[in-house]
Amino acid sequence: MAITTMTQTTMKPPPKESVTITDNRTGKTIIVPITNNSIPAVAFKALKTTPAISSDSIDTDDTANGIRVFDPAFLNTAAISSKITFIDGDRGFLMHRGYPIEQLAEKSDFLETAYLLIYGRLPDKKQDSTWRYEVMHHTEISEDVKKVIGSMRYDSHPMSVFISAFAALGAFAPEANPALQGRNLYIQNKDVMNKNIIRILGKAGTVAAASMRLRMNRPLIPPRADYSYCENLLYMMDSQSEAENYRPDPRLVRALDILFILHADHEMNCSTATMTHVGSSLVDPYSAIAASAAALYGPLHGGANEAVIRMVEKIGTVDNVLPFLEKVKAKKELLFGFGHRVYRNTDPRSKIIREVAETVFEACGREPLIEVATALRDAALKDDFFVSRRLYPNVDFWSGLIYKALGFPLDFFPILFAVPRVAGWLAHWKQMLDHGNGKIWRPRQVYVGEGLRDYVPIEKRAEIEVSKDQDGVLELPHYQTKRRLGAKL
Ligand code: CMC
Repeated sequence: MAITTMTQTTMKPPPKESVTITDNRTGKTIIVPITNNSIPAVAFKALKTTPAISSDSIDTDDTANGIRVFDPAFLNTAAISSKITFIDGDRGFLMHRGYPIEQLAEKSDFLETAYLLIYGRLPDKKQDSTWRYEVMHHTEISEDVKKVIGSMRYDSHPMSVFISAFAALGAFAPEANPALQGRNLYIQNKDVMNKNIIRILGKAGTVAAASMRLRMNRPLIPPRADYSYCENLLYMMDSQSEAENYRPDPRLVRALDILFILHADHEMNCSTATMTHVGSSLVDPYSAIAASAAALYGPLHGGANEAVIRMVEKIGTVDNVLPFLEKVKAKKELLFGFGHRVYRNTDPRSKIIREVAETVFEACGREPLIEVATALRDAALKDDFFVSRRLYPNVDFWSGLIYKALGFPLDFFPILFAVPRVAGWLAHWKQMLDHGNGKIWRPRQVYVGEGLRDYVPIEKRAEIEVSKDQDGVLELPHYQTKRRLGAKL
């Protein structure tokens, strides 16, 4: 449906599936069609208040290009239409390709869910066995990439290792690089796309294990293609040299599998938006995965599972819960593992995770911090600060406790979010290249800076009038490089 500009002569009742917008500065009215409960932001371009400007003046309000839709942090902006994942934030409901997350967590496994996300359907027997075979036979990483990982310090954050390793994987795969093979490589050649989806998914687990072995100062052991994805991951991380046929506890394999299903995708979150944004430039997918992993690493996103444990350890005992919550309410602290941009009700993943925690505690022993975490959740859910803001535990509130009980080092937790999320990143990347509009993602800004002015020579700059809200005048201190000798590691 086209956007209509209304004039006195065209006045007729607008179609029901539309909104009517009047710019009260000019009296101009446009009728904008509603499609899938959304309106196109470009419709606002029709609300121009000035004609195109002459070459000797600059209109910093850009009024000749209509009205901009201003949405910092994307609170209400959709940048893509998607068939992958649906969240009903008010009901606390999540489904992938139409299947509720509860059913997938109960009946599926990680690789099958990954296939579902990426290819849109549950695989039949043949597709399933080919998929598993291919992913598990693309788990090796080259000696060169191992050298890159091995060159990092033993105490590097595993996410730094993961990000660097993916950037390096791109460097060692020139045949997968549109910069070298042509910009339309992944648009025209679906074999190359599928092969690299398989390689990326296969290698993500090995890179994760390598980051763990680096921390332990142990050599990376070769992956087991005959194990399941999660079994192989636990094997590569945990196996000691004496146990070539070591098989991780099947209860823990299943627990990790469920956690991986729960983390595999979550529609347009910060890191997935990074994958599509970066991918829209047609860069190679290894670089785009590195960028997405960087976005995930932050404590407001996939780094929250690590932050939850640091927070609960700091609280220490049940007695300290209420004083801690007072600090949160005074905005001096953040309650990590609570709140979500989309969920305004319980995150359905956190309910499932709470049950998985019990299985893991049975196998590994009860994690003592669970008492403090439970007291924290109970107190927060009764407190008006959290109730009125509709803040509930999210996926990260309990997952960290499971990872801790499993014996993973704290800074490894975000890796256990990143590896399964690779499936979601790839699904959205593929969807964008297969069905997107082919345009580079390039948001606009609202310019609120200075108007046009003439360059001032340095001798005369003291005379420049500085407006109150200007942040350009800085008295820079001299930063000294800290000497490492004697520094605490
Ligand atoms: N602790 C204390 N206050 C909070 C929290 C929290 N965890 N989350 C939100 N609020 C407050 C926020 O300060 C705001 O208060 P006010 O109305 O007084 O300004 C109000 O609640 C509404 O929050 P919001 O602005 O709607 O939140 P957002 O959508 O901008 O941010 C969030 C979402 C997840 C970044 C945020 O809830 C948060 O920082 N949570 C803690 C970090 C965390 O657990 N992240 C993991 C998210 S789930 C896994 C993933 O997908 O990444």
